[in-house]
Amino acid sequence: MAKTKKILITGGAGFIGSHVVRLFVTKYPHYHIVNLDLLTYAGNLENLKDVEGSPNYIFIKGDIGDEVLVDDIFAKYQITNVVHLAAESHVDRSIKDPLIFLKTNILGTANLLQTAKKHWANEYEGKLFYHVSTDEVYGSLDMGSEMFTELTPYDPRSPYSASKASSDHLVRSFWHTYHLPVVVSNCSNNYGPNHFPEKLIPLMINNILHKKPLPVYGKGENVRDWLYVEDHARAIDTILHQGKAGETYNIGGHNEWKNIDIVHFICQLMDSKLGKNEGESERLITYVTDRPGHDLRYAIDASKIKNELGWIPKETFETGISKTVDWYLNNKEWLQHVTSGAYQDYYSKMYDHQ
Ligand code: NAD
Ligand code: DAU
Repeated sequence: MAKTKKILITGGAGFIGSHVVRLFVTKYPHYHIVNLDLLTYAGNLENLKDVEGSPNYIFIKGDIGDEVLVDDIFAKYQITNVVHLAAESHVDRSIKDPLIFLKTNILGTANLLQTAKKHWANEYEGKLFYHVSTDEVYGSLDMGSEMFTELTPYDPRSPYSASKASSDHLVRSFWHTYHLPVVVSNCSNNYGPNHFPEKLIPLMINNILHKKPLPVYGKGENVRDWLYVEDHARAIDTILHQGKAGETYNIGGHNEWKNIDIVHFICQLMDSKLGKNEGESERLITYVTDRPGHDLRYAIDASKIKNELGWIPKETFETGISKTVDWYLNNKEWLQHVTSGAYQDYYSKMYDHQ
């Protein structure tokens, strides 16, 4: 009989977390999946409508920093694995209001680690604390061919990336100090369905749909390395099951794009899908003041996860972005709910004070 796992997924109502929850709930019916999410502006249970009734799935609304709640969850559900995604994730918000990033990303992670250490102290066998992190901890690359490897020294440059770097260090400190079995992955920029329209790709799609300006920071020359979100979820699945405790794995799609090229690409794709005149959406492109401390380039060397665990992405950027645009065109209600905030009123009332 297949061995069961009782997995606490944090941040499972967010963009990447919802894809991880769906993958695990459907692929592993014999696992118990507990999704702990505070339902901040970024958390949306509409992302999980298709799995919410599954017998192996439970949702708990709450804060990863809540010591009593997290302790109760470990005790009640006999958690064997943590897949930790809950975070404040948007760089621009971290520039405006850094403190919540420190509270959630650093102190929240510390609380999860402490609780895992307490509950797993007698038996580390079969346990794993998996921290889902970002390539932004490595800093910024020059234009050229250099890429981030797992050995690149940390050089975070925004409050967001500094908070994620700090949480990565904390996770590894629990491995070195207490031998808590941990694993960390650092992934490049994700895109795909359910992406909150404050991030570049869904913002552009939403603004094109509503004929609003397309704000490009600075000259649009900055480079990001894009990965389809379902490929990231599969990588997380691979690392959880085959990764080695104490290790770090970089995840990326070898898919570097300048921001301005992506914006042009989306404009042309949407003009063609919506039957608009050529160039109609590109006229909305508006250059705006640059992001303070804007990292120039990210690029991930993902050879370790490929060579050691056999993971490679399935989607090319062309297939992934086409699927993504189709998803937004077919889910205008989702988009309308997240831009109006309606999704929060409904679900928050439903899940408050369990
Ligand atoms: P997101 O902002 O879409 O989702 C974050 C989720 O965490 C939301 O559901 C939110 O409600 C929840 N959350 C926030 N604070 C919480 C708290 N105190 N307690 C419980 N839940 C809380 O983020 P995302 O883009 O899905 O990113 C998920 C993780 O992956 C983050 O840790 C992020 O750093 C990392 N990551 C993201 C990307 C990317 O491109 N989006 C790339 C690499 C790594
Ligand atoms: O690299 C992984 C990281 O990718 C994750 O850890 C973060 O959680 C995620 O938000 C993302 O960070 P970025 O800052 O790279 O993503 P964002 O979509 O905010 O911006 C992508 C690029 O587009 C960046 O160079 C800034 C630029 N940009 C962004 C927005 C929102 C614009 O030019 N205009 C915009 O309106």
